[in-house]
Amino acid sequence: MFQPGLYDGRCVLITGGGTGLGRTMAERLAGLGAELVLMGRREAVLAEAAREIESAHGVRVRFAALDVRDPEAIEAALDGLWDDTPPDTLINNAAGNFTARFETLSPRAVDAVLNIVLHGTSYMTLACGKRWLAAGMEACVMSITVTYAFTGAPYVVPSAMAKAGVLAMTRSLAAEWGPKGIRFVAVAPGPFPTPGAWDNLYPRPGLGSKMENRPPVGRPGRHDEFADLTAYLLSPQAGFIHGEQIVIDGGNWLKRASSFSELDALTEEDWQAMAEKGKRRP
Ligand code: HXC
Ligand code: NAP
Repeated sequence: MFQPGLYDGRCVLITGGGTGLGRTMAERLAGLGAELVLMGRREAVLAEAAREIESAHGVRVRFAALDVRDPEAIEAALDGLWDDTPPDTLINNAAGNFTARFETLSPRAVDAVLNIVLHGTSYMTLACGKRWLAAGMEACVMSITVTYAFTGAPYVVPSAMAKAGVLAMTRSLAAEWGPKGIRFVAVAPGPFPTPGAWDNLYPRPGLGSKMENRPPVGRPGRHDEFADLTAYLLSPQAGFIHGEQIVIDGGNWLKRASSFSELDALTEEDWQAMAEKGKRRP
């Protein structure tokens, strides 16, 4: 289904589009013909990504350096975009996160994560949405969540709270704005190694690899797999998928949720002993 030109005529705004999974989505969508707008705080990172994507794929890539926690900066940037070609798709991908014991956090530390993930996502969605509604434009919003949005997770409590809120936004606005032509989806990735995530989540190199290989498929996610899913979900072929969160994690969250996963550690002798027990039953 990924025919060349699938995204011709589309304009996709990606927050955090200069790095990691945001950059992965940017590359894939540009390769399929989409014009892009990248947002993030670091202008140099965005400028380099825009230049590289333009030269690789021959599409226009605009960028705006801003903090998604700043609604006035968002309004100003979107006014500029709407004066030219408005985006028809928003990917809420920007996030902040770190691992810490909850009892050690200051209020500002809690706010740092909640404000980027929950408030920033709300501000971006509101600012784009009200413009789309006013123009009667059809549009699509994809938010990148995480599986612990529905399981919860220790040591990343503000992130879990914020991502759960983003999932609630996806479902709520699917019902409210769906009838007005705006489609909502969320993607919940498991481990997809990126420098941004791994640097912020693990105190020393090497710890991340333990988590990477935890999914029952025995490996971390590949960026091309993530790109394929998101390119499908934002395409017209996925037009009936609405208000839904799709998990892409190699079965990772089920590993913890399923009661006997720890038995992976049993030896052949343990299994034989178990079988012998059964045979001894009268
Ligand atoms: C405790 C911390 C802390 C830490 C920061 N703070 N890091 N507290 N442990 N590790 C506290 C600071 O002391 C300060 O509080 C407050 O948080 C704000 O810190 P700043 O550095 O001023 O914040 P800011 O510059 O706004 O940076 C935001 C950030 C940073 C979230 C802290 O990490 C960031 O910019 N991250 C962006 C990239 C990122 O996180 N990517 C990973 C996404 S991965 P005080 O009280 O001292 O002033 C992800 C899911 C992955 O989301 C899941 C994998 C399966
Ligand atoms: P990343 O490279 O650190 O991506 C985060 C991006 O958000 C960066 O480009 C960053 O750019 C931008 N950003 C952060 N704070 C911002 C702010 N206040 N305003 C504007 N932009 C901001 O990490 P990633 O792994 O690719 O994560 C991408 C998304 O996937 C996130 O939503 C994350 O929660 C989710 N996710 C990742 C994984 C994984 O395994 N990698 C798993 C589950 C979910 P600047 O620093 O320049 O602002």
